[in-house]
Amino acid sequence: MTGGKWTFVRISHKEVSIDEPAAISPWYEIFSLPDSSYPNQMSECDHIRHMHKTKNLSGGFTLTNLLRPEARIDSCISLLCSRLATLSTTQRTIPLYKWLHYLGFDVLGEMTFSESFGFLQEGRDIRHAIRITDELATYVAVMGYLPWVHKFLLGNPIIGLLGLRPNQHILDTAVSVQEARREKWDARLNILEQWNWRYHAVKGKGGMEKREIVGAALANIGAGVGAVNTVMQGLFYFLIRNKEWMEKVREEVDQAHREGRLSWPAVQYREAVGLRVVDACYKETLRLFPTIAFALLPIVPTKTTVSVNFWTLHRNTSIFGADAESYNPASWLTGTPETLRNREKFLMPFGVGYNSCPGQNVAVIEVLKTVVTLLRRFEFDQREPEKKENQWK
Ligand code: HEM
Repeated sequence: MTGGKWTFVRISHKEVSIDEPAAISPWYEIFSLPDSSYPNQMSECDHIRHMHKTKNLSGGFTLTNLLRPEARIDSCISLLCSRLATLSTTQRTIPLYKWLHYLGFDVLGEMTFSESFGFLQEGRDIRHAIRITDELATYVAVMGYLPWVHKFLLGNPIIGLLGLRPNQHILDTAVSVQEARREKWDARLNILEQWNWRYHAVKGKGGMEKREIVGAALANIGAGVGAVNTVMQGLFYFLIRNKEWMEKVREEVDQAHREGRLSWPAVQYREAVGLRVVDACYKETLRLFPTIAFALLPIVPTKTTVSVNFWTLHRNTSIFGADAESYNPASWLTGTPETLRNREKFLMPFGVGYNSCPGQNVAVIEVLKTVVTLLRRFEFDQREPEKKENQWK
């Protein structure tokens, strides 16, 4: 169905999805996880309170603050490299997606609490956190449409009282780090501490409650780990299948290495961010795999929900060209300044407006550092050639 210049698709009896960037706004109580007693900015449906939360939390997500614990992120990436190096001598096939997921948990643990969750160290899915997080993603996708059912399930405070919360050990870490923060010498080098500082600075004047700070820390893990992992997997997915681009990226990384521009053992963010081909591949991955595949941002006071799907928007040929379905990082490297500006403007994997993703700096730091460090040290190929055929060749 087309109305004026906008394309509308009815995706359920009460929801219409729009392929149009101008039609964007908020949503969902359901993101209060692991249960309703830990509200976060995402689950805050009141616009004004949501904006206060966003303001209170924003200091934790500045590039300067996030790069303070860079040495600790480096330790996680170095540990990943040594694990992969060891495995590559004994195993023919390594499930990269799993190791990237372990890395994602440990890095976000370090950035948020100065505490790794120990996934890389143990090399396994501790207390099924990854499996549970995946299941929670499905739960959220379904229950977002059935909020009244959610109230009887994870939205029910009794779940917490009975100790049945999913991902209890992530919650335990958040609470115990919050309690032990005074004893940690490097407690200032993390997101949580920035929020604690803000808590004291604006106490009683629109600041957050302690419980909300723990809720926000949990939201970081819940919203961030899977999303960053998806992008990182996507980046390797496309490079492995597009040899030409794998070679171009490698050339760029190898040259920077030969010229002594990349630190060892882990590449620094400021070194990785200047690599143009890597950056183009990152953007192209975000365009084709914007991680959130369902339509976002229900709006309007009528009984019908209106939403925008970035997956569709990013394939809009009037913005991204006739080959919008294809993987083509060159489109971020060539073209008139106007075309490039337009592409950048409508690349929206992190959402837009007041409830857009606060974790985009976290994502770019983790993805660029990891990908460049791994590509400098390892060669990657797919072990199941029969799965190589796909639409993004
Ligand atoms: C490439 C990785 C990521 C992508 C593509 C992504 C995407 C998004 C999108 C599209 C939204 C908006 C949802 C909406 O409109 O309701 C969002 C919200 C959010 N994201 Fe991310 N995200 C990523 C990484 C992260 C990371 C690493 C963190 C935390 C460290 C994070 C934390 C959040 C939070 C807390 C919200 C809720 C914001 C609010 O409602 O005000 N995200 N993300």
